[in-house]
Amino acid sequence: MSDFDPTSDHDSTLPSTTESGARRENDAHSLSVGANGPLLLHDVALVEKLARFDRERIPERSPHAKGSGAFGELEITGDLSAYTKAKVFQPGTKTPMLARFSTVAGELGSPDTWRDVRGFALRFYTQDGNFDIVGNNTPVFFVRDPMKFADFIHSQKRLPDSGLRDNNMQWDFWTLSPESAHQVSYLMGDRGLPRTWRHMNGYSSHTYMWVNEAGDRSWVKYHFLTDQGVENMTNDEAAAMVAADTDFHRRDLFDSIKSGDFPSWSVEVQIMPYAEAKDYRFNPFDLTKTWSKKDYPRIPLGKFTLNQNPVNHYAQIEQAAFSPSNTVPGTGVSPDKMLLGRVFSYPDAQRNRLGTNFNQLPVNRPVVAINSYDKEGAMQFTHSGDAPVYAPNSYGRAFQDAQGAVDNGWEADGELVRTAYSLHSEDDDFGQAHTLVRDVYNDEQRARLVETVTGSLLGGVVEPVLSRVFDYWRSIDKEVGDSIEKAYREQA
Ligand code: HEM
Repeated sequence: MSDFDPTSDHDSTLPSTTESGARRENDAHSLSVGANGPLLLHDVALVEKLARFDRERIPERSPHAKGSGAFGELEITGDLSAYTKAKVFQPGTKTPMLARFSTVAGELGSPDTWRDVRGFALRFYTQDGNFDIVGNNTPVFFVRDPMKFADFIHSQKRLPDSGLRDNNMQWDFWTLSPESAHQVSYLMGDRGLPRTWRHMNGYSSHTYMWVNEAGDRSWVKYHFLTDQGVENMTNDEAAAMVAADTDFHRRDLFDSIKSGDFPSWSVEVQIMPYAEAKDYRFNPFDLTKTWSKKDYPRIPLGKFTLNQNPVNHYAQIEQAAFSPSNTVPGTGVSPDKMLLGRVFSYPDAQRNRLGTNFNQLPVNRPVVAINSYDKEGAMQFTHSGDAPVYAPNSYGRAFQDAQGAVDNGWEADGELVRTAYSLHSEDDDFGQAHTLVRDVYNDEQRARLVETVTGSLLGGVVEPVLSRVFDYWRSIDKEVGDSIEKAYREQA
């Protein structure tokens, strides 16, 4: 069992106190001039109680606001030390961890069973520092350039005038962004409605880098395969659950861990030799593409198990700050433009959401010591004492000035441009989506896909978007596109 448990400074057996520790006179009655008289500003206990209540809410995550998670442990059972020197991945290593699952578009109180991609965020408290893999339950994404991310999220959230969700806006964005076809084919398929978080796979989606002791680099994709088996809900089951229990997934995870039924996931990786990226048939850094398992089979690496519920949802889940920028030696990012955009965006969002010193919160603090020259800011409570606050210095505090190539980097040279990726031989927007819909989905799954898309079109999609949706699906798969149009015309 993970022993990660931030301490509480509260003693619930004491009489109630103010926040400065003095015993409160009363928890029920404010101080007034006579029983029916006016209240008094110097009723510190009342003023503090109201003022603190007024400040209880912090901004929710934008996106991925609704979610929950649990602590656990990653155990490495395979030996891929030939590819990475990261301590967390060495054979036999056990590492405490936190996982958070989420929906993307819904707000903090939104139903868990709305159709959506699910977030799959993992934090490993490693002996090299915090290492996060912030992925989803799908191996690809809707767009391939971070410039489009905010627009994508806006199209999934709410209309500016009515504040309503809007299918027309979603399909407008998707059909004008054909690179979304692969991910939309996942989303409109069975995977868009996982039965529980325990019954879904997770993926890094992005390509990352691994570096071994000798400095040899490889490209890697992570897969987290549920040991509970993949199970999904039907549209009807999910809709019924929206009415019955908006927190169904949160409850399911908490209750199963509480009852000792610990969910686990097998960790596997696809590894691509560094030099093969250049000529692979798909651009290996394009987040809308997967790597064929025939080309790069999945290799078992280990297993993680979630075995410890949060004791305080706010402190340990809401305040958790996952970020793809949290890499450790032996790992690194890749030329995936989305990933490079994310590396900036997460800590920036967290400075806004949680405050400058969010990494000092117990759930975000690494288990290893830090030695950072960053200092002060609102709510700092760890510090470096009287050590020099600048580098270089004459007093023995670290100053690292090595020059040259970094071990987890890559070669890049060229004009500054704004353009799509250079194409590899089989790159196009619809090919892999077609394979998913035609070769991976069976007849029943394709029928459900047609039903789901049609249902979503009947929910307010209008011209010119409507015709574009039929063409979009025909580009993915002629028969599926025709079936969607036919079903729509019959029901509209
Ligand atoms: C959450 C930005 C793409 C998975 C977030 C947050 C931001 C963000 C600002 C909230 C962070 C916080 O307040 O703690 C972006 C940007 C992207 C991008 C700018 C593209 C350029 C992706 C992709 C994935 C992903 C491709 C999955 C492969 C997640 C997850 C969370 C999240 C799982 C929730 C993390 C948690 O549980 O706390 N994203 N995102 N995002 N994002 Fe992204």
